Amino acid sequence: MEVIIQPTAADAGLLAARMIAALVRSKPTAVLGLATGGSPVSLYRELIRMHLEEDLDFSQVTTFNLDEYLGLGPAHPASYFNFMWTHLFRYINVRPERVHLPDGLASDIPACCADYEAAIRNAGGIDLQLLGIGSDGHIGFNEPVSSFSSRTRIKTLTPRTRADNAPFFGPGEEIPQHVITMGIGTIMEAREVILLGFGASKADALAAAIEGPVAQLVPASILQFHPKTHVLMDEAAAQKLQRAEYYRHVFANKPPWQRV
Ligand code: PGA
Repeated sequence: MEVIIQPTAADAGLLAARMIAALVRSKPTAVLGLATGGSPVSLYRELIRMHLEEDLDFSQVTTFNLDEYLGLGPAHPASYFNFMWTHLFRYINVRPERVHLPDGLASDIPACCADYEAAIRNAGGIDLQLLGIGSDGHIGFNEPVSSFSSRTRIKTLTPRTRADNAPFFGPGEEIPQHVITMGIGTIMEAREVILLGFGASKADALAAAIEGPVAQLVPASILQFHPKTHVLMDEAAAQKLQRAEYYRHVFANKPPWQRV
């Protein structure tokens, strides 16, 4: 696991965007696993800038999002479908038929989840998975005690996650109880992972995930077993790490060939 502490969330977003751009330039048919929420917004803005100003080409890229709220259709303002088109897809040249999100209106949920897993497999697997982290340590919507070998399936959100995500909903609007999310087993098969965590509210979850024991109670801690994970955070999110000085030292002394 590579732990990278940047002065601000915007700095970390720029760095993560450069990592994704390097992959897309070296493998134009890359399969990207994408995330929603506040954490990836500045990263998406930078990818849009690179597309507009530096010819970063998404025409052959395939995307799979982590999750979607059950009961929200694509037109719902708080759906993750809408989030992705609002914050990224409409500004880049990704082909709509290569964009995948779980269907929030699926009538046969197990079949929808099995189809999603099959689509990821048929695309050749995910080259790079982007993740946020919940204040409870979740990745995707895999809440604490999710199985480490879980696949795409329905999950029930914790009250804390629903409260954390309330700002994305209108006043008085009901926040769904249920979601479809890639499983932890699905996420762990991605060849590379970038996890973003910003702000003091993520400090405990990041410290537990990076330096604590691997435990179902902290779903992100399974990434300690992933062969190529980069965790990017700002100073506020890094304040509970015991080895922050070491991570800074490692990043400052990265060999030139490893830099993006
Ligand atoms: P956030 O959410 O990016 O909005 O902080 C991350 C998550 O809950 O996974």
